[in-house]
Amino acid sequence: MKCKRCKKTAAVALPSHNTAFCPECYLIFFARQIERAIHVQKMFTHDDTLLVAISGGKDSLAITWQLAKLGYNVTGLHLDLGIGESSVKARQTTEGFCSAYNIPLQIVEFAEQGLAIPEVKQKIRRPICSVCGQLKRHFFNKIAIEGGFTTLVTGHNLDDEVARLFSNTLAWDQAYLQSQGPVLPAEQGFAKKVKPLYTVSEFETANLCFLAGIHYGYHPCPFSRGASFTSYKALFNQLEELQPGRKRCFYQKFLEQGRPHFQNSREINRELHPCPLCGFPTSTPEAPPCGVCRIRELMRS
Ligand code: AMP
Ligand code: FES
Ligand code: ZN
Repeated sequence: MKCKRCKKTAAVALPSHNTAFCPECYLIFFARQIERAIHVQKMFTHDDTLLVAISGGKDSLAITWQLAKLGYNVTGLHLDLGIGESSVKARQTTEGFCSAYNIPLQIVEFAEQGLAIPEVKQKIRRPICSVCGQLKRHFFNKIAIEGGFTTLVTGHNLDDEVARLFSNTLAWDQAYLQSQGPVLPAEQGFAKKVKPLYTVSEFETANLCFLAGIHYGYHPCPFSRGASFTSYKALFNQLEELQPGRKRCFYQKFLEQGRPHFQNSREINRELHPCPLCGFPTSTPEAPPCGVCRIRELMRS
């Protein structure tokens, strides 16, 4: 198999793009995909200050590396969830990466906040992944707003987005379908949020890390992580084998043709008010505080 660009021996075959690349040309291809996503979705410019949420996994390391290489102004944010060995390794990988590439890094320690995830799991009856997700989103936003960053970047990739879209579609969840997408604009108290990897598969970010020499960790969370999402990803990978390009097409067509139908969903006009305790906006009906402050209160009780 030959590289589509330079005709040298190809190292990576990409059936979904009907193409293949040698290592050098793959790096060019990857960079162009990201640049196109940033441009088409008007995500940010070189004047923006980007806060990139880095978990230590391949996706967030790949996007941080790529954005830094393209000359964007990036700062990393790592949330140390306090989940034993898994969090220790994730933090080490993130710190090692940021120091190797000279990327400033901020760290929030959940344990210091009284929010170490294993302790939260013991006290709060809701499924821990959903509580953990709520806390993560809160800190992503808080650090972005308080640090004056214009945009928050996450490493969500095409497989994550397709699994989420499939889950939202199975439930015909209008509120989620109207808000799902690679860009969430800023609103009062909320930073702009973007996913520049939304056209890129897990396989493609893994290749990027391998070919660019980025050492990423695999630190699975011991609390079962959304088993349904994992099975949806497996389903879509089977479909992709039969019909290369299906995943990208499903998501792209949703953005172009599906999502507009949900824009008038009632949820879009939810009323926000500042939480009396932390000041961040919340739509919690009737008596505030916000969900995160209630978790904090429960943890202190
Ligand atoms: P996940 O929900 O684990 O698939 O992660 C999706 C994205 O959220 C990652 O690519 C990161 O950008 C961000 N993220 C997840 N966990 C963390 C963490 N502990 N610290 C910083 N960012 C995170
Ligand atoms: Fe949050 Fe597992 S519960 S990463
Ligand atoms: Zn609050």
